[in-house]
Amino acid sequence: MEIMKKYCYGPCLLISISINILLSINLFVGKISERPALSWSVKAAAEAEMVAAMSCSGHGRAFLDGPIYEGEPICECYGCYGGLDCSEFNPGCAVDADSGDPIFMEPFWMQNAANSAVVISGWHRMSYRYSDNTVMSTELEKYIRKLHALVGNAITEGRYLVFGVGSAQLLNAAVYALSSQNSSSPSNVVASVPYFSLYQDQTVLLNSKNFQFEGDSTLWKLNNSTNNMDVIEFVTSPNNPDGELKEPIIGGKTIYDHAYLWPHFTPITGPSDHDFMIFTLSKLTGHAGVRFGWAVIKDKDVYDKVMNYIHLFDFGVSKDTQLRVLKLLKVVVESDGKPFFDFSYNMMKDRWDRLTPVFSKSTRFSIQQRHPMQCNFLNETRLASPAYIWVKCQREEEDDCGVVLNAGNVIGRSGSSFGAKDRYVRLSLIKSQDEFELLLQRLTELVSLENRSVYTV
Ligand SMILES: Cc1ncc(COP(=O)(O)O)c(C=O)c1O
Repeated sequence: MEIMKKYCYGPCLLISISINILLSINLFVGKISERPALSWSVKAAAEAEMVAAMSCSGHGRAFLDGPIYEGEPICECYGCYGGLDCSEFNPGCAVDADSGDPIFMEPFWMQNAANSAVVISGWHRMSYRYSDNTVMSTELEKYIRKLHALVGNAITEGRYLVFGVGSAQLLNAAVYALSSQNSSSPSNVVASVPYFSLYQDQTVLLNSKNFQFEGDSTLWKLNNSTNNMDVIEFVTSPNNPDGELKEPIIGGKTIYDHAYLWPHFTPITGPSDHDFMIFTLSKLTGHAGVRFGWAVIKDKDVYDKVMNYIHLFDFGVSKDTQLRVLKLLKVVVESDGKPFFDFSYNMMKDRWDRLTPVFSKSTRFSIQQRHPMQCNFLNETRLASPAYIWVKCQREEEDDCGVVLNAGNVIGRSGSSFGAKDRYVRLSLIKSQDEFELLLQRLTELVSLENRSVYTV
């Protein structure tokens, strides 16, 4: 009997495993065959894959809604590349580091094409509202809260969420909601220099009797120290353009613009816990074109006012956009956010690691200081890796740094666009890899010329 047991054990185990494998395959294949075969989505999928397969020589992308040449979509090339297939490099062209277009994340999404693609039927959510009578997807709201809890960059429990057409829309909705609507004098809107120009531009454009832009917070405080006036302060943290983690200067009513409060740009030192916080998909996943932002609001009255603003202007964000954002955020939170944030952080870190030595050789140009801080998300002490490099021209006579950089074929955004002096220029580090490589090359040339001229003097 013992011998029987001994000889049967091996073959019996093998037979049992084989039966299990066969049953599993049967179950899996059965499940697939139960699904209806793809029909109406096949043509759309084929079209999407057709443009995605166009390589554009690695220096551009083709899109279904892009220009057509002889009935076929053609490539849209990155800066300094041209030709039908983007293979022609223009060596004399100026590198454009002006805009904050976050194309740096494009390679991640191409690597994650299958998980991030969305198919939208012709009848997808034609209604103004979702079935719960709201204009915001509850599933998307759930993922946004999950994302903040995962990254640890903001408290969202017990707070209201509002979606906007980009965070740009929410900036003004916030000013409207916080301004005193019955007062005889308008609320004063301030931000500390250097500040993101949209705060000023939107407020000036709307020319409201309820609020007006008053410029730099510090200056305002200095001139109005004894005055008990109504103030709304934008606190941009990390700041655009210099990446600084700003604190309020005035206190009181504040709008925290956290567009860049993600591990790729800054160490996450703890969750932000403020009355009014604004985030954007643009600088999180790089999808500026999707136009999606959200506000996290503590106070119910303020929330109601923001919702009223959103309802009156747009009746909410496009349902197509919300579906796409949901799909993207599902990828972001996969494996506790590790693949996504590893990619985004390493990309920014690499760009800073390569640019910093260039500026350390220069006495003509200086850039912002970065200090190591503990990042609770990455669980390490690290430097910030801001979206922009804030360059200062140090020579007395070079008080327009934009002109100096232009002469070296580098286009940046002048300090005066941020309420600062033109001795400063902002250069974007979040554009495509091609554009970054060219920027690095041009800056290296500028600095090496400077060193050469020192020796020849
Ligand atoms: C600080 C800051 N806030 C808000 C925005 C607006 O972002 P979006 O409207 O794309 O969400 C930007 C864009 O560059 C920004 O830099």
